[in-house]
Amino acid sequence: MSQTNVRPSKTEAADTVAVPADTVAAPKETVAPPTAPRVEARTQRGASLDVDVREDFLPIQAVEYVEFWVGNAYQAAQFYRTLFGFDVVAYAGPETGIRDRASYVLRQGQVTLILAAGLGPESPVTQHVARHGDGVRDVALRIPDVDAAHDAVTRRGAVPVEAPSSLEGSKGVVRRAAIALYGDTIHSLVDRSRYTGVWMPRYRRVEDLRGEPAGIAEIDHIVGNVELGQMNRWTAFYRDVMGFSQLVHFTDEQVSTKYTALMSKVMQNGSGRVKFPINEPAPGKRKSQIDEFLEFYRGPGVQHIALLTDDIVKTVRALRARGVRFLRVPETYYAALRDRIGKIEESFDDIQELGILADRDDEGYLLQIFTKPVQDRPTLFYEIIERRGARGFGLGNFKALFEALERDQAARGNL
Ligand SMILES: [Fe+2]
Repeated sequence: MSQTNVRPSKTEAADTVAVPADTVAAPKETVAPPTAPRVEARTQRGASLDVDVREDFLPIQAVEYVEFWVGNAYQAAQFYRTLFGFDVVAYAGPETGIRDRASYVLRQGQVTLILAAGLGPESPVTQHVARHGDGVRDVALRIPDVDAAHDAVTRRGAVPVEAPSSLEGSKGVVRRAAIALYGDTIHSLVDRSRYTGVWMPRYRRVEDLRGEPAGIAEIDHIVGNVELGQMNRWTAFYRDVMGFSQLVHFTDEQVSTKYTALMSKVMQNGSGRVKFPINEPAPGKRKSQIDEFLEFYRGPGVQHIALLTDDIVKTVRALRARGVRFLRVPETYYAALRDRIGKIEESFDDIQELGILADRDDEGYLLQIFTKPVQDRPTLFYEIIERRGARGFGLGNFKALFEALERDQAARGNL
């Protein structure tokens, strides 16, 4: 992004940033059947999408941003800048006319994160953090016609959190609305196409907090954890309310270790660009990682965000050097990997040295690795993923991965 405007326009601070309701009800389970036709689509970055978007009643173009509500937004912004290589590009707070919170906008590749912290105990941000710890409040969706989209999804059963409204400033207008997702999480619907400023009205440009890019290009998928018995309710929400279709279903037999199990369904939107897996715990001998999340997050929420890179070896090497902590599978994983995965472009020595996992399906292979939780509570973590044709989620790695995760869980006294 060009950053030539040194002095932010004062008149850019012209509107209030909407404050979503603190607590929201979950959508009703009964919803109208979808009328939009299902469309086949490819999910690979850069691939042309052979999809007639006129037929898609909810033409989501991308995840516009992910907003985190955290205890200290300035420090969180510095964490993502120095460890993950994000640029801090914009800021809103008391200096720009926002009294109750400070918000930093971070960007790397096509990924935009917002980190917001409340400035007093009465702020809904502060209250959210008291309950959930640092976590994802909003998975915002880029949509060309916010009013039509909000109307369509609420008619289908979505619970409105914010009616459509305009944020106006000297550089144009941003139209937005929001609906409830699981727990206290929301989906904002955002159209920034008629705004030419750095981010939105009331944000000012930040020049002096650049990161060193680590090759993070875009969001591949965002996973939610919900309570036992709630997975089908939320996949039905994506299907019936949002017009998504189911891409994959992992059963508890496929996703289990000696002790714990989980179930997962992956939902994707009409263009295939937006993928939201939903996990729920399955009954097992011990407490599953999903149960641990639900206990410490005090309810359902975003478990992990998968970030796509073109060069996972380079990205993970950079992140490790900066201090990002990753889960490690046992070395025995690599003894079996060469036979299991066959020929890959990358060096097996690099893959093993960096602790990267690999999996193959009938379309190609993928490389992935998972960070440890990025806050004190064992809740949100990140996946770094590179796709070489494969559209899956690394089923062949689930067992080794979950066993690695359970070792940490046991160390916390939670298994
Ligand atoms: Fe994932």
